[in-house]
Amino acid sequence: MDSTLSAPLPRPLAHRSSVDPFIVMDVMGEANAREAKGEDIIHMEVGQPATPAPRAARERAQAALANDRLGYTEALGLPSLRERIALDYGERYGVSVPPERVVVTAGSSAGFVLAFLALLAPGDALMLPSPGYPCYRHILKVLGARALLVATGQEARWMPTEGDVERLAGEGVAGLLVASPNNPTGTMAVGGRLHELARACRRLGLWLVSDEIYHGLDYDQPAETALAFWDAAIVVNSFSKYFSMTGWRVGWLVVPEGLVRPIERLAQNLYISPPAISQHAALGAFDAIEELEAIKSVYAANRALLLHELPGAGLTDILPADGAFYLYADVSQYTADSASFAKRMLKEIGVAITPGIDFDPERGHRFVRLSYAGAPTAMREACRRIRSWIKAK
Ligand SMILES: Cc1ncc(COP(=O)(O)O)c(C=O)c1O
Repeated sequence: MDSTLSAPLPRPLAHRSSVDPFIVMDVMGEANAREAKGEDIIHMEVGQPATPAPRAARERAQAALANDRLGYTEALGLPSLRERIALDYGERYGVSVPPERVVVTAGSSAGFVLAFLALLAPGDALMLPSPGYPCYRHILKVLGARALLVATGQEARWMPTEGDVERLAGEGVAGLLVASPNNPTGTMAVGGRLHELARACRRLGLWLVSDEIYHGLDYDQPAETALAFWDAAIVVNSFSKYFSMTGWRVGWLVVPEGLVRPIERLAQNLYISPPAISQHAALGAFDAIEELEAIKSVYAANRALLLHELPGAGLTDILPADGAFYLYADVSQYTADSASFAKRMLKEIGVAITPGIDFDPERGHRFVRLSYAGAPTAMREACRRIRSWIKAK
C-alpha cells in the first residue's frame, strides 16, 4: 500500500475545499467505471456532444502542431481569434462588437471565475435562476460570494422575470445571471424577456451576466444575445457545445471596455493564457458551420424522438425544451429522491442520467435531467430500457 495515500493531513483544509461536487461529473465517473468493466452504458448524464471537434478545427490544430511554437498566447487570447469571434456577433446577431472587448478563456468555466472575481466583492450576491447550472453557485461559494437563488417555474419557462429582479434587488446584490437556453431545462427567454431583464438590471444598477453557451442549439427560434439590448452586459460563451469541442477547453467573454484590463490582469495571474492549440482549433471551427448544422439536426431528431417516446415510457411530465440538448422531467410519481432514482437506473439498466438536485437544491429531488447529445441509436435504446424498467416498478 502507498502510505502517502492514507497519510494524515498536517492541518485542516481551507473551508472552501468543502465545495459541493458537480454531480454530473460524479455520475459520469461512475458510468465510465461501469463501462470500463464491460457494462453497456448509455450516456445521458453529461452535456457533451458524442461527436469530435469539427474536421476544420482538427485540421487547424494539426497544422498548428506541425508549424507553430504553441507558446503562451496573449492573456486575452490570440488576436486573430478575438477578431473572428467579434465578427461572428455581426454575422449571427447583427450586433457590432469590437474585438478589443472579447476575452478568450479556458472554457466558459474559466470565464465565470474571471468575471465573478472582477465583479463581486466577498459577501456580494448574484441572483441565479434555479434550476440552473450548479457550478455558478459552487464557484460563487468558493470565491466567498453568495448565490441568491431565484426559484423559477414552468409557467415562466423556468426563466427569471423582471418582477423577480425588482423584488430581490437590494443591499449586497450585485447582479443577475441568466442562461438562455438554460441548463437543465433547455428553455429560452422568449417574448422579450431578455430585453426586460437587461432593462431592469440597467435601471437598478446591477450587472447582467448572460450565459450564452447553448447558442446555436435552438430549434424553434434563434436565441438572442444580451448584447443586442445592453452594451454593458457580460456575455459568457464557449466552443464546448454547438462547436462540439468540450475537451479543448476554450471559450470566451464579451465584456464592457472598462472591464477588459482588470480581466486581463486576473487572467495573466491565474492562467497566463488559454491553451494555444485549442485557440488555433477554434479558429477553424468557424469554417465548419455546415458540419455543425448537420450535428444539430441529429439533436433535433433526438429531441423529437424523446418527446414522442418518453411519455409512453412513463416519463410523462416533460417541458418541450426550446434549445440546448436537455429535457428536464418530473419524476415525483416514482420517487421523492431523484439521486437514488438515477443511481438505480444506472445500476439496473445502464442508462446514466443526472438527478435534479445538482441544478436545484430545493425542488430537484423531484426531477431528473436527460441529455440527448448522444447518437440516435443510443437514444432509441434508452427509451426502450426506461420503458421496461418503469413498467416493472
Ligand atoms: C450552462 C453552462 N454553462 C457553462 C458550462 C461550462 O462549459 P465549458 O467550461 O465547457 O465552456 C456548462 C457545461 O455544461 C453549462 O451547461
